[in-house]
Amino acid sequence: MPIEFAERIRRIPVYPVAAGYDLGADVAMLASNETPFAPMESVVAAATRVIAGAHRYPDPSYAPLRKALAERYGIPGERIALGQGSCDILLAAGEALLEPGAEVVYAWPAFSVYPHLAAASGATAIQVPLDGDERHDLDAIAQEVTVATRLVLLCNPNNPTSTALGLDAITAFLDRIPSHVCVILDEAYCEFALALGDTYASLDLLRRYPNLVLLRTFSKVYGLAGLRVGYALCATEDFRVAVDQVRQPFYLSAAAQAAAVEALRWQDEVERRVVQTIADRESLVDDVRRLGLWVADSDANFIWLRLPEEVAEADIVTGLRDRGVLVRAGGSLGREGALRVTVGTEKDASSSM
Ligand SMILES: Cc1ncc(COP(=O)(O)O)c(C=O)c1O
Repeated sequence: MPIEFAERIRRIPVYPVAAGYDLGADVAMLASNETPFAPMESVVAAATRVIAGAHRYPDPSYAPLRKALAERYGIPGERIALGQGSCDILLAAGEALLEPGAEVVYAWPAFSVYPHLAAASGATAIQVPLDGDERHDLDAIAQEVTVATRLVLLCNPNNPTSTALGLDAITAFLDRIPSHVCVILDEAYCEFALALGDTYASLDLLRRYPNLVLLRTFSKVYGLAGLRVGYALCATEDFRVAVDQVRQPFYLSAAAQAAAVEALRWQDEVERRVVQTIADRESLVDDVRRLGLWVADSDANFIWLRLPEEVAEADIVTGLRDRGVLVRAGGSLGREGALRVTVGTEKDASSSM
């Protein structure tokens, strides 16, 4: 007899991991929305230093990182949730908020982890189609909020479609949502979004909406995807307490904590990298539009394009892979006939020649 697993295991979708990690260093890794810039030397040094003390468990209060984030964003450390990547916080939010009979509402296609939350908890997922410009349809999402809704997820900028909504639209949306319904505004790519102004702009919303959580990560602009650090800035303490309650105590390694604290000290360099990525994004969008293809208006570090109907998505992805370029097929992200391409470097561009 095979092992008998919990029923929910059959419901949980398998995360569409990117292929090609085995292909070697010369490959253009444009499939996972990482930054092409390696961590700064002092960040690597900070992480390396703490390895000598690895016989001890890491600080379970994450005090230095919590303090550094509290100072940067001007909100108390008790209202900052931390996680092993922001995915960890998302999954914990699902566990803390959802159960059979409850509903979670989000746009689709959006981040591929969102369907996991309902599947794992037995709650119902309400997926609301994006509009014709591949943006969130906030009106339609608001209309799906019922007495059963516990959680609304907004992905801004949206992965995989790269589009962002301005904060006016988000504010008008939040006005329509009852205050007992948790709204997670997933801002993994907010630093790349010209539509959002600066990265402090959405913090104002925390003062107005007690049910709001801003979800952010060190995986993108800070270049620490491999160390797995995410954080959530919360309007109240309750969310942080609940997501800590459902997780193991030591979710952030000492190396991850030290690297994140050090990375926060280099905002000028982070800003320089963001500016470079935005410039590269704009020229990539122009190049693809010159080919006659439709590309969404990107506010992220990746672009989203539609392929002509006669072209098979799989052929393009395989063809690019054979030329050393890894991109993501829309079909694996919820929309056939599209491609998601991370903004890389000049070197990535030349590896496809
Ligand atoms: C929209 C969005 N949210 C959250 C995450 C999770 O990032 P991490 O767990 O690396 O912080 C990602 C990763 O790609 C993402 O695209």
